[in-house]
Amino acid sequence: MQIGSGTRALVTGASRGIGRAVAHALAERGATVGLAARSTGELEALARELPGTHHPLTCDVALPASIATAVEEFAAAAGGLDLLVANAGIAYYEPIVTQSLDKIELMTEVNWLGTVYTVKAALPFLLEAGGGGHIVVMSSGAGLRGFPGAAAYSATKAAQRMFAEALRHELAGTGVSVTTVFPGEVRTSLHDHEGTQMPRWYRGGPNAASADVLAARILTAVQRDSRQLHYRPVVKHMGILNGVSPGIADRVLRRLRGESAAPRR
Ligand SMILES: NC(=O)c1ccc[n+]([C@@H]2O[C@H](COP(=O)([O-])OP(=O)(O)OC[C@H]3O[C@@H](n4cnc5c(N)ncnc54)[C@H](OP(=O)(O)O)[C@@H]3O)[C@@H](O)[C@H]2O)c1
Repeated sequence: MQIGSGTRALVTGASRGIGRAVAHALAERGATVGLAARSTGELEALARELPGTHHPLTCDVALPASIATAVEEFAAAAGGLDLLVANAGIAYYEPIVTQSLDKIELMTEVNWLGTVYTVKAALPFLLEAGGGGHIVVMSSGAGLRGFPGAAAYSATKAAQRMFAEALRHELAGTGVSVTTVFPGEVRTSLHDHEGTQMPRWYRGGPNAASADVLAARILTAVQRDSRQLHYRPVVKHMGILNGVSPGIADRVLRRLRGESAAPRR
């Protein structure tokens, strides 16, 4: 699909980070954007800041009725839905032995089930879209290779990956397609609440990748109907290497990120 002034796009997790950057990129192309997240104030401020007319949608993707209402409201206001960016997500990095079941369940509800609820709510509208609809699922490099301290988070991201891969094939011939995005470490507020608790192998902070560059690449991937987008490209190389030989991937990770990235020999 081509993204332009007729495009009606809904982005979850639009209040901050990658979702906010995608909303900016879409609005700059002239799209009408539904801005979905829980933080009403941030969404309203963003809607005012963006060029064009956009729709703040306060909702919780972990609650099926909440995200379904947001999708319906947007489709009614915009006259339909062409593009869904299922991006909302949370992360808690902590060893499983100490991590509470509450946090594991919350990541499952927001990242994995939240994606299912969002896609299920949007699909009927996307299937009606005249020019062909498109779904973007925001997985992670952590869905391609598991890292210690990120076991539960990685599991939610791997679930999204498989869901999106199967869905792309299921939707063959319908006019609706799916792109899965695998970011590495991107500069956002995803881990801000974790303070200094992050694993030693983690390389966030100022040198992490740019959400704006990722957003631009996501729009290109949608227009090309790319099956997958990896950003930065090293994420793709690590995924391939891990698939071919997890042992060699361990050695490369230890060299790049230190012993804590793959401590079991
Ligand atoms: N940053 C990275 O390094 C990185 C790497 C790989 C993958 N990702 C993925 O990228 C996506 C976006 O993360 P980010 O890095 O941009 O993080 P972020 O800056 O923390 O933004 C997360 C967004 O998700 C929204 N959100 C969280 N829980 C929600 C819920 N229950 N219902 C609706 N919205 C909710 C937040 O808004 P409210 O709090 O207002 O609801 C916020 O807009 C996530 O799926 C994450 O797993 C990020």
